[in-house]
Amino acid sequence: MNSATRSSRPHPFFIPFSRRRLLQSLALATTGFWAHGALAEMLALTAKQTEGPFYPDHLPLDTDNDLIVVNDSLTPATGDITYLSGRVLGPNGDPVRGATVEIWQCDNNGAYLHTGSGNAGRRDANFQGYGRFLTAGAGEYFFRTIKPVPYPGRAPHIHAKVRMNGRELLTTQLYIKGCAQNETDGIYSRLHDAKARESVTVNFTPMRDVKGGAFAAKWDIVLGVTPPDGDPHTRVDVRNSR
Ligand SMILES: [Fe+2]
Repeated sequence: MNSATRSSRPHPFFIPFSRRRLLQSLALATTGFWAHGALAEMLALTAKQTEGPFYPDHLPLDTDNDLIVVNDSLTPATGDITYLSGRVLGPNGDPVRGATVEIWQCDNNGAYLHTGSGNAGRRDANFQGYGRFLTAGAGEYFFRTIKPVPYPGRAPHIHAKVRMNGRELLTTQLYIKGCAQNETDGIYSRLHDAKARESVTVNFTPMRDVKGGAFAAKWDIVLGVTPPDGDPHTRVDVRNSR
């Protein structure tokens, strides 16, 4: 699989109205596939990782959870389409409603949405570079993005941050299971415990039912802190909403 140009069609689960609504629809449609709570004793907390230097210094105007298409552009980002989804869980295994999951990553050329990024001259203007999703009752989040690529000194990874009620609850990075570069990555190597590595390393599974090809990555994020109380929909930190 190579170009998002031929693989940018929405997954068949999608209902073809607005992009925002269809992405939310898929997130809701997957609710029934996950057990709720209960398995707390089996859950490992998601390991923290450094934020790194490339959290966007200027957030894009489009901050939705579809990073493949910026605003209403007809040209999608270049890269291997990936459907990244999962749940945000508290330390006891309960789903967390009202958490904002943010992701950011470099484009297919290794350039970040940051003025200090390397390779900035080759940045793919069709890649959003950053997106966020507000979880509902089952704690689910959903993104459409590209499969991360390596850049000098780093294994492929997606940065992630979870905020709630104005507080940062977790900052970490997600890696591709089976990627040989993980073993030599200086930041991944800081995770000495196998469980910690497992908590930020997932399969990127080819989706054979998607024309042109795509990958699915499932990643549950288990917070090590109890989310703050309050009405998340009135207090959650959402800046620069589109
Ligand atoms: Fe990075």
